[in-house]
Amino acid sequence: MEKSSVNPWEVSGNVDYDRIVREFGVQKIDDSLLKRFEKIAGESHFMIRRGIYFAHRDLNWLLDQYEKGNKFFLYTGRGPSGKMHLGHLIPFVFCKWLQDVFGVELWIQFTDDEKFLFKQNMTLEEIQKNMHDNMMDVIALGFDPKKTHFLVDTKHAGIMYPEAIKVAKKLTYSMIRSSFGMDESSNVGQIFFTSMQAVPAFLPSVLKNKKMPCLIPHAIDQDPHFRLTRDILPKLGYPKPASIQCSFLPPLHGTDGKMSSSEEMGAIFTTDSPKDVENKIKKYAFSGGRDTLEEHRRHGGNPDVDISYQYLKYFFESNDSELGKIHRKYKSGEMTSGELKQITIDKINEFLKEHQKRRKTAEKQIEKFIYKT
Ligand code: TRP
Repeated sequence: MEKSSVNPWEVSGNVDYDRIVREFGVQKIDDSLLKRFEKIAGESHFMIRRGIYFAHRDLNWLLDQYEKGNKFFLYTGRGPSGKMHLGHLIPFVFCKWLQDVFGVELWIQFTDDEKFLFKQNMTLEEIQKNMHDNMMDVIALGFDPKKTHFLVDTKHAGIMYPEAIKVAKKLTYSMIRSSFGMDESSNVGQIFFTSMQAVPAFLPSVLKNKKMPCLIPHAIDQDPHFRLTRDILPKLGYPKPASIQCSFLPPLHGTDGKMSSSEEMGAIFTTDSPKDVENKIKKYAFSGGRDTLEEHRRHGGNPDVDISYQYLKYFFESNDSELGKIHRKYKSGEMTSGELKQITIDKINEFLKEHQKRRKTAEKQIEKFIYKT
């Protein structure tokens, strides 16, 4: 068996999502929950319909509350360790949709402290530069500044730290060690950090002096933080946050692990030029096609392992019937790998053209999004 690992600081190997569901103790999103969710939302989103968001905690409870008129707020975040790539955008794209259909507030935590504590060779200044850059990517997705609040751990310490210590007081070193695998040599900031990530799950309730339900959309690797958060919040008098988990956008070179910024050739960044995108997809995107055109025409390709197809499914082709058509044509051999790659290149570049345009004007808006204490 190949070794695999999924935790907030490492995702490697062939990720087995069924095993994660069992080991993490999250619930799969089944058909009846999906139907209920779509009914209440009044719309369907391809990311949940296609199982990219595949698991949850307490989503039924959250919907019960919503139906009773008890609106929730959304909480997600970004660790500014570097440039953002397409995989990083997935939770934000989904949050934007949730914010629009449910008409709710969104709190976004930027964990500059976390990345400083966990990245051996980066200064706080470098991380904060990335953070500024990452904020532009988030804003470019079109959030409503009246309903979207950025929390920066080092800048909002004045309101966050008093809450973080309440969490920290309920957390022991042994809980941290068993959740995150830290040891005697981990620095003390790392051991404390999860207390900060717990805070936005109840800070809006503190600020408004009203206990509100919280929904956290996030990639599955972040679940250990929220498992602890859920254990502790009731002890502080707040409801357990509900959560909804997505799988990882696969890296260009294959199906293992996730798209990662540390491999320039494994990731497509939000700032890549059309030529970069074309080169990366053509050269590196793992193909589910056959070795020769003749074989491909005869036996067809395998969309399930084909990275270009996966990118269309995860992100760039939201229309199910279009995606289904591509699936059929590729599988039957009617569509070649080259043709599939070209469709993907065009779709990504169409998205990035708009994104990069909005990104430029986003810089001036950052101040509007930063929460004012
Ligand atoms: N720790 C996350 C990261 O490294 C950032 C983060 C903070 C986050 N709060 C969150 C992610 C809530 C999802 C949901 O990227």
